[in-house]
Amino acid sequence: MKTVTIRVQRGGDDAEDLQTYEAPYRDGMSVLDALIWIRSNVDPTLAFRYSCINANACKECVVKVDGKTEYACTARLANTGVTVRPLSTKSLIRDLVTDTLPPKEKLSAAIKDTK
Ligand code: FES
Repeated sequence: MKTVTIRVQRGGDDAEDLQTYEAPYRDGMSVLDALIWIRSNVDPTLAFRYSCINANACKECVVKVDGKTEYACTARLANTGVTVRPLSTKSLIRDLVTDTLPPKEKLSAAIKDTK
């Protein structure tokens, strides 16, 4: 089976700590498919978000794929491999997870926390 190299930024600060994984490759698979395979088979600590898998409805899987902002569920995995990083315009939580809550929802959450 053909494999492909996936480089993923890891950690909870902005330091460029890229970890390299090998994942099985098949035509048409998405970047999210590869991340899910890595988390299920190699590294259960890899943090990323998704919900609808490929309906492009939840918008939770947004990341940087080879420097471009993309939804990991619709970004096709190149057979030459990819580098996946978190959004650089949002606060980094860990690995590929950033704080993507709209400001209004953050305000609602803050009000709830004070009650
Ligand atoms: S997983 Fe829902 S938009 Fe990508």
